[in-house]
Parts: sequence; C-alpha cells; structure tokens
Amino acid sequence: MTNLMEKIVSLCKRRGFVFPSSEIYGGVEALWDYGPLGSLLKNNIRKLWLERFVQEREDTVLIDGTVLMHPKTWEASGHLESFTDPLIECKKCHARFREDQLTKKECSQCGGKDFTSPRQFNLMFKTFLGPVEDETHITYLRPETAQSMFTNFNLAQESMRLKVPFGIAQTGRCFRNEITTGNFTFRSREFDIAEIEYFVEPGKDEKQFDIWLDSWEKFFLDLGLKKENLRRYEHPKKSLAHYSKRTVDIEYKFPFGWSELAGVANRTDYDLKRHAKFSGQDLSYHDEEKKKKYYPYVIEPTLGLERALLAVLCDAYSEVKGGRTKTTQATKEIEVVLKLSKKIAPIKVAVLPLVRNKPELVKKAKEVFQLLKPYFTCRYDDVGSIGRRYRRGDEIGIPYAVTCDFETLEKNDVTVRDRDTMKQERVKISDLVQCIQKQL
Ligand code: GAP
Repeated sequence: MTNLMEKIVSLCKRRGFVFPSSEIYGGVEALWDYGPLGSLLKNNIRKLWLERFVQEREDTVLIDGTVLMHPKTWEASGHLESFTDPLIECKKCHARFREDQLTKKECSQCGGKDFTSPRQFNLMFKTFLGPVEDETHITYLRPETAQSMFTNFNLAQESMRLKVPFGIAQTGRCFRNEITTGNFTFRSREFDIAEIEYFVEPGKDEKQFDIWLDSWEKFFLDLGLKKENLRRYEHPKKSLAHYSKRTVDIEYKFPFGWSELAGVANRTDYDLKRHAKFSGQDLSYHDEEKKKKYYPYVIEPTLGLERALLAVLCDAYSEVKGGRTKTTQATKEIEVVLKLSKKIAPIKVAVLPLVRNKPELVKKAKEVFQLLKPYFTCRYDDVGSIGRRYRRGDEIGIPYAVTCDFETLEKNDVTVRDRDTMKQERVKISDLVQCIQKQL
C-alpha cells in the first residue's frame, strides 16, 4: 500500500470513518464497519445520488428489494453459471488461490507445491431459506441489486403507469465472496451498490448509453472529485460480462493506481427475457402509442457507495505544513485538511466558544449550537486552544467553524471560518442559519 493509503487508513480509524469489522477478534479480511463519521458521509453520498437520479428526474422510481430472493433468480440471471473466478487448490492444506496470484507456484499457507487444476468458484454467498439445510432450500445473498429491478419490472411499471423510457433505481446491500482483497475497502465482501436499470426501446439503447455515461460521470464531479483523477475505460468485447453488449468503467486514480469506480453497461434485453423464460411470465412492454409489444433494452449505470466514499477521501486528503491558524504558533507540524465537498461533509459546522472558562461565553456558544442543530450536523468543541480546535475540524472536513468570542456577548454576532480559505466573517446570530444554508 502506498504511503498516502496508509495515512488514509489511519485517519479513518483514528477519526471514526472506517473500522475493521469485529476488530476485537482480530478483524475479518475485506469486511469493514463505517464509524460515526463514515456512516454520515456514506449517507450523504447516497442522499446526493437519490436527489440526482430519483428526486430530480421525472422518469425514475425507487424500489427497496430484498437481499434474499427466489433461488431461480440466480439461475435466470446467469450468476450461478457465470459469476465465478477460476481457482486452484493446494492438495496439502486445501487453501484456494487464483493461479495468477501465486508466486513461484508455492502455497502461501503451507509451502505446498502440488495444486489441483483450475476450477470455477462461485462468488455468491450460499445460505438456506428456512430451517431445513438441504439442496432444495439453498439460496444466495444477492451480489448485485439489479435483479429485483427486473423481477419487479411489471409491478413497478404498472403500479406507477410508467412509459418507456423509464428507470428503476435502488441502493442496497450486496455480498460477494471476493478472492482478491486488499487496498482497504476497495474490494469488500459486503458493500452497497447504487444502480439504475433504465428501460429503453431497442434501437435507442446506444444513444441512451452515451447520455447515461455523461450524467454518471458528472455525478462524480458533483461529489467533488477532481476531473484529472477520472477517466473512462471501454471494456474490450472479449472481457464483457455475460449480459453485456457494451460496458464502460469510470475509473478513479486511487493511490494504488487507476481502478474501477463505477460503470455503465448495456444489458440489452438479456435479463427480462431470461426471467420471462424461467418464470413463465410475460415481461414484455406494451407500447400503447406505437401499438407494439417488445422487450426493452436496459442501460445500467452502477456504482459502489463505499468505492465512491474511498475515492472522495483520497481526493479530499491534503496536508499543509504548520501554522494554518493565526492563533497557534507557526509550527512545522503537518496539518491534515480533508477538503470534502461541503454538500457531503459528515459534519457541517463546528461551534466553538473562544475560551471555556467564561460561563457567559460557554452559555452563548451552547445556545448557538442548539440553534444550528436542527439544520446542520454540528459538533460542539471547547477542548484545547482555538487553533487546535480549528485543526481538529479541518482534519475531518468540517466546512465551517462558528466561534463565539467576547464581541458576541455585546453584538450578538459570531465569526464564521471557512475551512478552505480560512477567511473569517462576522455574521449576526439571527442570520447564521440562512448564511450557512446559502453556502452548502
Ligand atoms: N449490476 C452490475 C454490477 O453489479 P459490478 O461492476 O460488478 O456491476 C457495480 O459492480 C459496482 O459495485 C462497481 O462499479 C464498484 O463500484 C462496486 N463494487 C463491485 N465489487 C465491489 C466490492 N467487492 N467491494 C466494493 N465495491 C464493489
């Protein structure tokens, strides 16, 4: 892992963004918990996504499907057959590896040199529905949210009287028994996907693909990612997923190299037709205006929320050498500033009394804190020098610090400090909510 990645992992743990899952037992590979700030940040990314792609559009509806689905779903989707990685097994200790990950053809667990030939290993987690653990009760934890948008195609379309083109959107938990892990949260075994199945008339799919690719990419710019850290990767035909006619990844320049952040795929009519075949139900669309029936093609923009969160943290992380705050002595200490987009910062405002040993000032600052709390996520902080408190806020990306000082007691105004410019402005307490709202 690069130096920057190590710093981010450390910041995430120290400041409550991301913790190793079940750490008291030594953690579990590729499972991560989102702490107090990480869960707020992830929530804010999801919120922005829902605003852009559900609230602000007239042609997209949201659903919330189950993680466990009818087992036939995974036969129909092709995941049982094709959602696999080829693995070889050590004949001595039975550890499994991807062949290309083995150095010198030697088992990293026991040193054994004798392996089975590669066999397909399905990445879906298997479980049982109900108390009987036999073949007929097997099902799987969903590896993508897409399938319930296909199985609910008729119900969503009819209940909402939707006309093609329209989209069904969903965010939710997905599970993959990943073999290749590492790089912090990048490839986790449990994560949230946010994706849309956008149903279009066949023949209009290619144009819609390009439109979606542009708006998908724009979303990442809206999240605050720098343009130069984003690029597109067109999948060659031979590496396309089993359902795809065309896939373009949006890659981000992570500290460990350019890697997939999100994607857009043209899934054609593959899924609807397969579910129609396996369920015996007609899943075609009746176009009343054109008086014809057809199976729509599907454009699927998809994104992992935790990948977006990791990209956002990498992009926002910056270091400044000493003395960002006038009130501290200019030391040569490295100060971390997390330049998160103000829209998604987990905490928006820090409320600070200039000193903590003046009861009137503390009382006033607590009043300001109570005033702001219904509108913004706020943190009250009165421990340490004012400079140290500014830095604590900068390190977790708080965009605004509101300080109550002695003038506050006379004039009923406060200073508002901007994290990025460090400029301070005096604002009347009565105007404070509006003033901050305007800038977020
Ligand atoms: N329905 C299409 C689909 O699931 P995918 O490329 O396999 O496509 C979608 O996954 C997105 O989910 C990816 O672009 C990536 O952002 C995220 N993702 C995939 N595997 C992940 C993992 N193991 N951990 C975290 N995020 C993952």
